[in-house]
Amino acid sequence: MRNVSRKHEGHRLAQLNEIVYQVGNYDAMALAMTLGLDDYFRREYTKFLNNTREKFLRILDVGCGTGRNVPYILSKYKDVNIVLVDISFSSLKIALEKYRGSTNIDYVCCSAELMCLREGSIDNVLSSYMLRHVDIAKFVRELKFITHRFSRIVIVDFWRSHVAISMMLLILHLAIIVPFLSLVFSPRSFCAYVNLWKFLPNLPDPIGICKVFSRLGNVKMLSFYNMIYVWVIQRG
Ligand SMILES: C[S@@+](CC[C@H](N)C(=O)[O-])C[C@H]1O[C@@H](n2cnc3c(N)ncnc32)[C@H](O)[C@@H]1O
Repeated sequence: MRNVSRKHEGHRLAQLNEIVYQVGNYDAMALAMTLGLDDYFRREYTKFLNNTREKFLRILDVGCGTGRNVPYILSKYKDVNIVLVDISFSSLKIALEKYRGSTNIDYVCCSAELMCLREGSIDNVLSSYMLRHVDIAKFVRELKFITHRFSRIVIVDFWRSHVAISMMLLILHLAIIVPFLSLVFSPRSFCAYVNLWKFLPNLPDPIGICKVFSRLGNVKMLSFYNMIYVWVIQRG
């Protein structure tokens, strides 16, 4: 895995995200750039969260952004404590505004590579569209520490496709359609969206990612249109 360049690229991407949170409109762009399919994707991948032990659940959403997964988690589980983690203080501020009245949500500003959470304290982990930002080996080490042997981990991201045509379509979408959409829905963060496609060629192969995740337990990989990948990991 290209650790050094990935680390640098991930750091740059996180800075671009910060611009979106501070001067742009992340939520409008999330809907626009998925061509209205954001709700469908979120409903589908949150189905993979589980509660094998039939008890009160603690679910971590790491790289939570503005907390877009929260309504989908709450529609599935009532008796739950959601821990929202993000490296961006600005994104957590937006999430806090949205869910101000909720007493079952905690907010933690820290890196996914070094989370300040207790050993074995998390039942389910959800992470959407964050993986490309982090050093995957460090993230996996952290996940191993904070989860327990019955935990389920669901990780989702746009990824370098293993199918050539899907890869070309995704690059076209990110390089041309997304910048155009940002001019309409989030013009002040155009500079962030125009650079978004550049991370794709540097990502490791999605099947290689399964091997890294298999250090945690059983891994299943699914995809939406061979562009958005979902890794479902059952700790064991
Ligand atoms: C594309 S946004 C996705 C936000 C949200 N999960 C969603 O589905 O809408 C990626 C998020 O990952 C966060 N992030 C990037 N690097 C991170 C890191 N090392 N630790 C925690 N969060 C990170 C960014 O701040 C940003 O909020």
